[in-house]
Amino acid sequence: MRINKYIAAAGITSRRKADELIEAGRVRVNEQVLKNPGYHVEEGDRIEVDGSLIKPVNKKVYYLLNKPTGYVTSTYDKEGRPTVMELMPDSTRVFPVGRLDYNTSGLLIMTNDGELSNKLMHPSNEFEKKYLVRAYGTITRKEAAKLARGIDIGGFVTSPAEVKLIRHDKNSTVAEITIHEGKNRQVRRMFKAIGHPVEELSRIGLGNLTIGKLAPGQFRKLGPAEIENLKKI
Ligand code: URA
Repeated sequence: MRINKYIAAAGITSRRKADELIEAGRVRVNEQVLKNPGYHVEEGDRIEVDGSLIKPVNKKVYYLLNKPTGYVTSTYDKEGRPTVMELMPDSTRVFPVGRLDYNTSGLLIMTNDGELSNKLMHPSNEFEKKYLVRAYGTITRKEAAKLARGIDIGGFVTSPAEVKLIRHDKNSTVAEITIHEGKNRQVRRMFKAIGHPVEELSRIGLGNLTIGKLAPGQFRKLGPAEIENLKKI
């Protein structure tokens, strides 16, 4: 089995991220830093990531976490900030699927299923991501329509989105936006492009999943039907 697939099967991260780990020199095979990303694991090989021995896991687990703000969506942070890993039980090794910004809260899938993560994160995947936004100022219908049509966020024009203005006061507007792509900081960049920077951002839906009544910092296991749905995306 190719090394990136082996690392994904061990529940460490997705295949793509495994390639990054290899490139960063964080993977060792039989005590040697691995240089060849195309390496095929052989019977009896000793594979280490960041100095820990890894083994393929059979039991896949899937959680839905309501990420609070102030946590990094990563298994490790160089700057020592809290990561979403600290919110999960340490009995099972999981990793986040995709990324929410440090200051974004909401729905995040945590799993050890590297194949599913790979599939969901593939750029061709256009499933819905729904966000609740509080943005500075009063957003007009015309501005909302611009967001919905697609807007240049700096070298990239977003594809059509659904935008619902919910309420506003003199300082801010609350809106819901559903996008089908996932560029870096996309929602923040979209609202900035119409002159209303984001004040608060929370992901409330992903594919068929919704955050429901899960409080920030809490997680729940996904049910079999929810997992099946995700695999069909
Ligand atoms: N869009 C953003 O700008 N930030 C997120 O965390 C998610 C989507």
